[in-house]
Amino acid sequence: MSHSWSARLLQWYDRAGRKNLPWQQRTDAYAIWVAETMLQQTQVATVIPYFERFIAQFPDIKTLATAEQDHVLHLWSGLGFYARARNLQAAAKQIMAEHNGVFPQDQRALEALPGIGRSTAGAIRVQAFAQRAPILDGNVKRVLTRFYGITEWPGTRKIETQLWAKATALLPHKRLRDYTQAVMDLGALLCTRSRPHCAACPLATDCIAKRDSLQAQIPARKPKPTKPVRDIVFLILRNPAGEVLLHRRPPTGVWGGLWSFPELAADRLQEDLAEHTPQPISKLDWLPAGTHEFSHFRLRYRPLLVRLAETDAPATGEPGGHIWYSHTLSPPLGLPAPVAKILQQIQAPPHG
Ligand code: ADE
Repeated sequence: MSHSWSARLLQWYDRAGRKNLPWQQRTDAYAIWVAETMLQQTQVATVIPYFERFIAQFPDIKTLATAEQDHVLHLWSGLGFYARARNLQAAAKQIMAEHNGVFPQDQRALEALPGIGRSTAGAIRVQAFAQRAPILDGNVKRVLTRFYGITEWPGTRKIETQLWAKATALLPHKRLRDYTQAVMDLGALLCTRSRPHCAACPLATDCIAKRDSLQAQIPARKPKPTKPVRDIVFLILRNPAGEVLLHRRPPTGVWGGLWSFPELAADRLQEDLAEHTPQPISKLDWLPAGTHEFSHFRLRYRPLLVRLAETDAPATGEPGGHIWYSHTLSPPLGLPAPVAKILQQIQAPPHG
């Protein structure tokens, strides 16, 4: 596959790839490095005029190394991610100091420069020094994960290692520079994040994402960190009149000031229950459990319906006041969504 992969890519590139980008006319590492740095987080069309101005003002490493930082940042204005500009100048100084002003050529020395990661180092090696090196930027990741049908989020070390291995194995032995541009172009022009143009893709016949219609699912998005879960029991005390005990929550915190059921810690239910209900209980019922999403945690609740045998109000000791709530008789109250829902479920006629 590696032969036909690169052959097909190059054939497509000769027909449809980009050949007139300003940095493609250059072979000096300095200009290619500047371009690759700008292209790390910015689209080609935006980069072009910035690249031209930057290279005109700072034509070589030494000019950049000795420039005023304000001047460098001024030429970066509007590109964003200004650490890139500061790193660029810091790296230029480092090249002057540690490499006699000569751009280093090997992967390790390149990655030792601020702002140059594994993929940018590869892009410089290929385009400036005609070396055989893989790249793996966002575009290439998208192409590879789709082609191989990798449904896992590609941001983990495990998947990145797999992708680097594949990117390396797929490298041709000739036309490295065109090949590298071809993979980037395929990602940017055809294998786009949304609505990829699979009909025009030279690799579509062997692409797993295309075969299984998974283009929209691959590459997978970064999984959201799982929120902490809080497990509680809603204690629903119902008296023979059909009224339910609600208490007012403290003014701050979640559901601040709203009326809710007393909450029991799920892991010490017996003790908590005894504390809350000194009076006789006629029946205990578990109602359907539910979850409620807060921004910072997930509340998992199990409503426990406790039917009291006597009507007189228990003093639950909850601060903030309590009310024996009746659907039909009580004034409108602020109720958290799950509480309102549970009250709906239990508005059966009073028992007894
Ligand atoms: N994105 C990153 N490097 C690029 C390059 N050399 N040409 C086009 N897009 C790119």
